[in-house]
Amino acid sequence: MRKPIIAGNWKMNKTPSEAKALVEALAPLVADAQCDVVVCTPAVNFAAVSEAIKGTNIKLGAQNMHWKESGAYTGELSAAMLKECGVEYVILGHSERRQYFGETDATVNLRTLAAVKAGLTPIICVGEKKEEREAGYTNALVAYQTLIALSGLTAEQVAKVVIAYEPVWAIGTGLTATDEQANETIGVIREAVRSAYGDAADEVRIQYGGSMNPKNCKGLMAQPQIDGGLIGGASLKAEDFSKVVRFDA
Ligand code: 13P
Repeated sequence: MRKPIIAGNWKMNKTPSEAKALVEALAPLVADAQCDVVVCTPAVNFAAVSEAIKGTNIKLGAQNMHWKESGAYTGELSAAMLKECGVEYVILGHSERRQYFGETDATVNLRTLAAVKAGLTPIICVGEKKEEREAGYTNALVAYQTLIALSGLTAEQVAKVVIAYEPVWAIGTGLTATDEQANETIGVIREAVRSAYGDAADEVRIQYGGSMNPKNCKGLMAQPQIDGGLIGGASLKAEDFSKVVRFDA
């Protein structure tokens, strides 16, 4: 019922020429994909990537945006700027933004509202740290992060956003949540959405992210709650990313 969505988060990798080469290599490998395919690239690559994805099934994503429409916010980018560059998706609240750049649940909410208002699809990241999982707070924490991020949206709008469950301890570490752990926590997120937005919970797509790769993607994607993946390291090579996109091939 929910169409899977596999997105690459390139993080701070690839120059425009490298980005062009990666997307040109990727396009033929994912042309028959059954899922939505997104590449979230650094903003300096928007022009090169939007040109390279013309006529393909690959969509362009950004890694962050500001919530104001314009103004004195040196270094920031607005939703309108992203839109005009061909961006359709935007990652919000990634744990690296929370850890290194002071992102909070409240600012994730402001960005989410601005993105939806502008017609962008947010990919909202939530997830617990290792010590929070060990202390037994995972379920309460991810439910809270999710509901704060979505606060102020209508159920109709919530149905169209994408949420990424990314346990912080699994990002870039080679440690993946087990299929069952990921499925269970994503189920908790979906029930939190249901508590506030009813049946929109059955439509909202929830990805897993954290060391997802060609080897483990099939098992994760076979889980009933998991609707896709947000892929870091394995999205930087066309071959690897295409294998995740074609998880059931
Ligand atoms: P890795 O796939 O490199 O663990 O990164 C996951 C991630 O943070 C995607 O947003």
